[in-house]
Amino acid sequence: MDCCFMFRKRSQHAVEGDDGVHSVKVFSYNELRKATQDFSGANKIGEGGFGSVFRGMLKDGTLVAVKVLSATSRQGVREFLTELTAISDIKHDNLVTLIGCCAEGSHRILVYNYLENNSLSQTLLGSSYSSIQFNWKARVKIAVGVARGLAFLHEEIRPHIIHRDIKASNILLDKDLTPKISDFGLARLLPPNATHVSTRVAGTLGYLAPEYAIRGQVTKKSDIYSFGVLLLEIVCGRCNTNTRLPSEDQFLLEKTWALYEQGHLEEIIDADIEGELDVEEACLFLKVGLLCTQDAMARRPQMTAVVRMLTGSKNVSMEKITRPAMITDFTELKISGKPPEGANETHSNTSRSFTTTEATEPLFSSSETPTQLSI
Ligand SMILES: Nc1ncnc2c1ncn2[C@@H]1O[C@H](COP(=O)(O)OP(=O)(O)O)[C@@H](O)[C@H]1O
Ligand SMILES: [Mg+2]
Repeated sequence: MDCCFMFRKRSQHAVEGDDGVHSVKVFSYNELRKATQDFSGANKIGEGGFGSVFRGMLKDGTLVAVKVLSATSRQGVREFLTELTAISDIKHDNLVTLIGCCAEGSHRILVYNYLENNSLSQTLLGSSYSSIQFNWKARVKIAVGVARGLAFLHEEIRPHIIHRDIKASNILLDKDLTPKISDFGLARLLPPNATHVSTRVAGTLGYLAPEYAIRGQVTKKSDIYSFGVLLLEIVCGRCNTNTRLPSEDQFLLEKTWALYEQGHLEEIIDADIEGELDVEEACLFLKVGLLCTQDAMARRPQMTAVVRMLTGSKNVSMEKITRPAMITDFTELKISGKPPEGANETHSNTSRSFTTTEATEPLFSSSETPTQLSI
C-alpha cells in the first residue's frame, strides 16, 4: 500500500523562511514489481549511470518510469528519503516530476512521471527512426525550455542545484514536445567520490567542461558548458561527437567554431529541418552555444542571461566570442598522458589552457582513458 513519509526538512534543504513539513510518496517493492511486470526486459527502457530504468503502470493507471539505482547508493533509508524529499519539492514545467520512491531493504528506487516522447538522444539525435518532426519551432521550444529549467535550478531555488550531467539523454519530451530535464539533484544520492557521469557512453565526454573533466571542478559554469554543447546539437540535429565522419567534421563544437570564423555558420544548421526555418535565429542560437562553451568560465553567461539571449531580449553580438574549449584538446591531453603544447598556461586565450599539475580529482584514471575516449 502507498504511504507517505512525513518529516521536517533538514536545515540545508530548507527554503529560506520555510521549515514546513514535506512528504514523498513511498512505494513498496512489491507494488513496483507489479507495475513493471517483475522488472521485465520488455519493460526496460534504458540504462544509465545510476542503474536501469523500466516503464511501468501503477494501480491507478498512471504511467511511470521506474529507476532502479545500482548498489552505488549506500545511503540509509532516512538519509535517502531526506534527499528525495528535497528533490520532490522542486516543481517546474521544464523539470521531470518525481512521483515517489522505494527504500525497502537494500532497494533504492525512484519513480518518475513517464514521458511518452522519450529523450532527445533517442529521437532527435538517435540513429533509429523517430516519427517526431523537429521543425524549427519545436527546436526553439526545446532549447528555451531546457534553458529555463536550468536557470530555475541555478538561480531560483534555494539551495541552488548544479545538475552535473546535462546531456541529450537527460532531456525528456512530453506529448507536446515540452522538454523536461531529468536526473537533477541525484548526485546527492551517491557516496562521496563516486560519479554517475558515464564517460564510457559515446558522446558523454563531449558535454564536459574542461575544468570538470580534468580537475573535477563542478560549478554552474560547467552545467552551462554542457548546455552550450546541447544547444548546438539541437540546432544541428547531430551528436557532439561522430567518429564516422571525416576528421574535420567529427566534433560538432570544433566544426561550429570553424564555420563561425569563416562567417558561414548557417552551413551547420540541420538540413533536415522541415518547413519554415529562421536562419538568423538559428545562427543566434549557435552563437549562444559558442558563448556557453568558452574556455574561460567567466566568459560563459549565467543561465538567466542565456534565456534572455535565446528569447531575443538580450543582444548576443555585444558579447565577445573567442575560441571555445574543445573536446579534441582534452582528448589529446588524456591520450598522450602529458599536457599538449602550452598546457601549462592556465589562462591563455586559446583552448589549450589545461594543466595537469592541478589535476587532483580527474573523472577518469589514465588506465581507463583509451576505452573511454573511443567516442
Ligand atoms: N521519466 C522518463 N520517462 C521516459 N523515459 C525515461 C524517463 N527517465 C529515463 N528514461 C529513459 O531511460 C533512459 C536511461 O535513463 P538514465 O538511467 O537516466 O540514463 P541516461 O540519462 O544516462 O541515459 C533515458 O535515456 C531515457 O530514454
Ligand atoms: Mg538520465
